Formats: sequence, structure tokens, C-alpha cells
Amino acid sequence: MAILTQAPRGTEDILPEESVQWQVLEEVMRGEASLHGFGEIRTPVFEHTELFQRSVGDTTDVVQKEMYTFLDKGGRSITLRPEGTAGAARAMLEHGVYNGGLPVKFYYFTSCYRYEKAQKGRLREFHQFGAEMYGSAAPLADAEVILMARSIFDRTGLSGVSLELNSIGCPECRAKYTEALKAYFGEHREELCSTCLDRLDRNPMRILDCKSPECGRVAAGAPRMLDYLCDDCKAHFESVKEALTAAGVEYTVNPSIVRGLDYYTRTVFEFVCELDGKPITVCGGGRYDGLIEELGCQPMPALGFALGMERLLLLLRQQNIELPSEEPCELFIASLGAPAKMAAFRLCDTLWKSGVKAACDVNDRGLKAQMKYADKIGAKYSIVLGDDELAAGKADMKNMETGEKKKISLGENFLDDFLTITTMDEDLSF
Ligand code: HAM
Repeated sequence: MAILTQAPRGTEDILPEESVQWQVLEEVMRGEASLHGFGEIRTPVFEHTELFQRSVGDTTDVVQKEMYTFLDKGGRSITLRPEGTAGAARAMLEHGVYNGGLPVKFYYFTSCYRYEKAQKGRLREFHQFGAEMYGSAAPLADAEVILMARSIFDRTGLSGVSLELNSIGCPECRAKYTEALKAYFGEHREELCSTCLDRLDRNPMRILDCKSPECGRVAAGAPRMLDYLCDDCKAHFESVKEALTAAGVEYTVNPSIVRGLDYYTRTVFEFVCELDGKPITVCGGGRYDGLIEELGCQPMPALGFALGMERLLLLLRQQNIELPSEEPCELFIASLGAPAKMAAFRLCDTLWKSGVKAACDVNDRGLKAQMKYADKIGAKYSIVLGDDELAAGKADMKNMETGEKKKISLGENFLDDFLTITTMDEDLSF
């Protein structure tokens, strides 16, 4: 039978076997965030379109080409979030969270939506773990968030992830740099794509991360922001590098990192790893000291990063790093006949209430089918209940791996017997 439709291009279903691995990674990330005092924030999947136009920037690829934007039934322009920073900042301001003392620290797990050319590691719906810190301009804050991301990679066991760092300055030094870029790209007008021709006047820095190969070739020879940093930005960048070195974090300065979103100032960074022999950015972030003011509040320095969950999982799999799979069922209770079926259900309930993973038949299947199911769910033990067992108040509990059987009471000692048998088996297996 053909199903009606398939998942849209660039989206993925995450089935239980895989979602266990997501949960393990999420635990690592939550743990790291909590160590550094970040609290979880959950924001809406959609926001008013202008939020992204103003923050991500209306000359970026994300806003110009990739957003899922539509008019709702009230005629408002709504956009599915393409990233998590803007919504988190909007929520922080809307709820006045900053009044309680700075820095404010948020982390989030979000689904994001970008209409990109779907391929391995590039999806239209993907998920990020993000961390944002508001209210510190100090270089140590930059070092701390970078350290958090580094530590997450270390905890997962992923190897070959390198940290690339750059500074893209503040509005003052950026103004001089923008003039230099305009002059340079102005001489290469004919080689630029139509989008970049438009960007030449409005925001020539965006040409540096255009995905068209022709623009990329021209961009390779463009002036570098690092050569235009003002004294304050230079000193800030030096201090960030010093703090990273003090913490033993290796990095390389990559002057070509500009990031694809407009809100960045000063420090920008990416964690890059190889996927199928090609570099892929698994985490990106930086400072965005002008964003909060742009959103209508008093100026407030801020910074953060986001890590792509699907990309991290792809990389872990490529490196054969085993993440735990679903815990198997401890006990399957098969039954023959209605009274036994009810008894099996009651015994399972005793186990569930004590936190033991157990299952019984709910589908009125024959014994053979029930035992096949027990195998499928990887049950460690099984019991078969029939009238004889119920009358005796006892049954055999079978170790599914060794085949060994031990008597278990079906009365009030059921749980104690179960725990004694399983603990003895565990001790023997050491
Ligand atoms: P971003 O570099 O656009 O930054 O995305 C962060 C991460 O999300 C990327 O490094 C990548 O792992 C993942 N990612 C991005 N696009 C896709 C895609 N189409 N498919 C799969 N994964 C993807 C931001 O979003 C900023 N908000 C990060 C940030 C937070 N900066 C400061 N705070």
C-alpha cells in the first residue's frame, strides 16, 4: 500500500532508536550549560518577520533567500525561525529579564527552518543547541562561551574538531573596512552575482560569504577585516586569544570568517570538522554587541553560539563513536488465558511503579507470537503465566540469554524475588 505522502524535502523523522542518542547529547549540553549558570529558554517556532529582518539582516542569504515567510489569517507577516538568537533576545527584552542583574544566560534547543539546497548535513528543518549571554563586553565572556562549546565536543568524544577564530570589529572600524571593500568589489563588478551587486552598496561584507563560486573567487582577494581593527577591537581580540590560551584551548585565526548573519561584532568563531573529506561547520557563534539596541533597548553587549544537532550526530556516526541505545526491557510477561492476562498486567504494574521496564501482551496473541515480540524488544527475562502458575502462585523466570530458569513468587514477594534474581545474575556476570 502506498502511503499518501512522504516527509518534505530537507526534513527528517527522528525515530525512537535515534532519539535516544539525541537525548544523550542533550544531557551533555544541558549539563555543560548548567555548569556555567545558563537557564533554558523556549521561544515560539514563529515570530514577526521584522524580527529576523532587523537582527539577522535583510542583505543576508538567510533573509533574502531562505526564510519560510507567510501571511497569517490576520494578514501579519510571520516567519518560521531560521535561528535561535533573535527570538531569545526578543524574549529576554520582552520579559525584562535583564533587570535582575547581568549577565543573563540562556540556553535552548530549537528547530530552525531555512529553505536551503538540501544535502547531507544541510537540511530545511534542523535543530540547534544554543547558548546566549547578555550584558558582558569582557573578553573573558567570549572565552567562556567558546570553552563551553569546546567542552561539549570533548565530552562527546568527537575528534578532529578545530576552532577557527576571527574579529570583525565594531561599527567604527567596520565603516573604514566597508569603504575598502566597496572600492575592491567595485573593480570586480562584472564578476559578481546579481544579489551581490545589490549588496555592494548596502552591505559589501555579505559578498564575502556568498555561496556562488564566482563571488567566492573574487572574495578570496578582498581586504581582510583584521587589518582594519581599531585599537579597542584589537586589544579585545588579543585578550580573548590570551584567555583561550590560558585555558589550553587550541585555535587558529581565520581572517576569512565573517559569518552569515549581520548582527555580529568583534569575536566570531566556528568549530569545523571533516565530513566525507570536506570541512563542515558544526558550531558557530560570536559577539553581537549591537543587536539588543537594534531591537529597541538600551545598548547591551551580548554573545553566544549555536551547534547543529544533526551535523554533530553525522560526525559522531562517521567516527564510529557509540552512543548508548535504548535500555532493553527487563521482563516480558507472556500469558495464556484471560485470568493470566490480567495477572500479567498487574505484575507489570508492580514493576512499572518501582521503575522497572517491563511489558506484557496487550494484543491477545498466541504464545509463540508473544515470545517473538519479547525477543524483538530485547527482553532480558521472561515469564509465561497460565492457569497452573496462577494456581501455584509461582512461575519460572527465564534468563533469555542463558536460558536458565528460577522460581519467582507471583504474590507479595514478586518484586523482591525479581530484584534478587536479577541482582544475582548481574553479580555473576562481573
Ligand atoms: P549558524 O552558523 O547559522 O549560526 O548556525 C549554527 C549551526 O547550525 C551551524 O554551525 C550548523 O551546525 C547548524 N546549521 C545551520 N544551518 C543548517 C542547515 N541548513 N542544516 C543543518 N544544520 C545547520 C546561527 O544560527 C547563530 N544564531 C549562532 C549564534 C548564537 N550566534 C550567536 N549566538
